[in-house]
Amino acid sequence: MNINIYGTKEEAGVAAGNMIAGAVTENANCVLGLATGSTPLPAYRHLVELYEEGTLDFADVKTFNLDEYVGLDFQNKNSYHSFMQENLFGKINILPGNINFLDGKAKDPEEECERYEEAIAECGGIDLQLLGLGSNGHIAFNEPGDAFKDRCHIVNLSENTRRDNARFFKSAGEVPHKALTMGIGTIMGAKKILIIATGKSKAEAVKKMVLGKITPALPASILRFHPNTTLLLDSDAASLLTE
Ligand code: GLP
Repeated sequence: MNINIYGTKEEAGVAAGNMIAGAVTENANCVLGLATGSTPLPAYRHLVELYEEGTLDFADVKTFNLDEYVGLDFQNKNSYHSFMQENLFGKINILPGNINFLDGKAKDPEEECERYEEAIAECGGIDLQLLGLGSNGHIAFNEPGDAFKDRCHIVNLSENTRRDNARFFKSAGEVPHKALTMGIGTIMGAKKILIIATGKSKAEAVKKMVLGKITPALPASILRFHPNTTLLLDSDAASLLTE
């Protein structure tokens, strides 16, 4: 795992944005795996700036988002679909038909998970997967547990994750209890992974991910087995890493 440490979360975000921009410039048809949460926002802002300057063209890019809450339709302002629309897709020239999401309102969640895996495979797999990190070490919505879940699946969100994400909702009680998420195998199948972690609240998870045991109790630790992963940190998130 390559580790790059930046002074601020904005600098880490700009670096991630530049890496994503590089993948799009190199291959106009590239397949991006994208993440939600506050961590990737500086990267998305930078991508929008590059697009507005005329440096980037997303017309042939395809995207697959990591996860979606169960029970929220795409129009719901708390859905990850709305989040992506507001912070990236609505501001660049990506074609709506090239945007892929797990459907949190699907009647049959298992069938929906299979459909998503097949859609990723049909596109030739994900070229570059962007990830954030949960304060409990989760990636996408793969929560700490006894075993790594391989493929897309439905998950019961931990109280820790519901509490962390409550800030996006009017009240904590509104945070859904379930989500659909790519699995660890889906994520590990990406050709290249960029994971960003910023802020003091991620420092402990970063330390365990980089220096601790590789274990499903800290899902992000598995990324050390991936041959092409870069971890982008700000100085706060890196503060518990020793030399
Ligand atoms: C959610 C998302 C994750 C994200 C995490 C961290 O749980 N499912 O993909 O990495 O939040 O969020 P934040 O970046 O807001 O700290």
